[in-house]
Amino acid sequence: MDPPEWAGPGADHPLFRRVAGAVCEQYDRDSSGHDMSHAWRVLALGTRIADAEGADATVVGVAALVHDLHRAMGVAPRESLSAVEAALDAAGVPDEIAAAVRHPVAVHDDYSWEDDPASPDTAEAAVLRDADNLDAMGAVGVARTFAFAGATGQPFRAAENTPIQHFHDKLLRLRGEMHTEAARELAEERHAFLETFLDRFEREHRGER
Ligand code: NI
Repeated sequence: MDPPEWAGPGADHPLFRRVAGAVCEQYDRDSSGHDMSHAWRVLALGTRIADAEGADATVVGVAALVHDLHRAMGVAPRESLSAVEAALDAAGVPDEIAAAVRHPVAVHDDYSWEDDPASPDTAEAAVLRDADNLDAMGAVGVARTFAFAGATGQPFRAAENTPIQHFHDKLLRLRGEMHTEAARELAEERHAFLETFLDRFEREHRGER
C-alpha cells in the first residue's frame, strides 16, 4: 500500500517509504494523536538529531515509523516486537537494521506502560525517545494533547484528568528529560511555546482577556 502523503524529510527515501506503506493501515485506526503523521514527524526530528549526534539515521528513521504500532494493538511496546518484525520483513528491511530497531522501539515510551521502564542503551534508542518527546511539545504537542483528550472523552476543564493537567504532569517536564544535546536545543523553543500557550489559556479561561 502507498504511504499517505508526506512531503517532509524522508519522503523520498525508498526504504522509509516501503516501511510506511507496510504500516500505514495499522496507524489508520488511531485517533489519539499517534497516527502516521506523528510517525513521519518523529522520523523527521529523529533523523535530524541522529545526524547531529552521530547515531544511525536509517535505524532511527525505520524505528520512528514503527514505534507506535503497539498503540493500535493496545499492548506495551515490547509486546509489539513480533508485529514490528513482520512489518519490516514485508517491507524488505535488511536484517541488521531490523535487529537494531528492536531496542529503540521496546524502550521508547517510559510513561504509560511500565512502572520501571528500561532505559535507552543505544544512541538510536536515546534519539528515538527524544524525537518522540519533542513531538509532544510545541504547537503540535498542544494539538495532540487536545486530540487525545477528545478521543478519550476527557472533559475540557475540570480538576483532574484533563488536557491542561497533562501539560503539568508531562509536557512541561519533557525539556528536562532529553537524552541528547541536539534534542535539548530543539526542546527550548517548543517548551517556551507551551508556557506561552498555557499562560494565555489560563488567563482567557478565567475571563481575563
Ligand atoms: Ni510516539
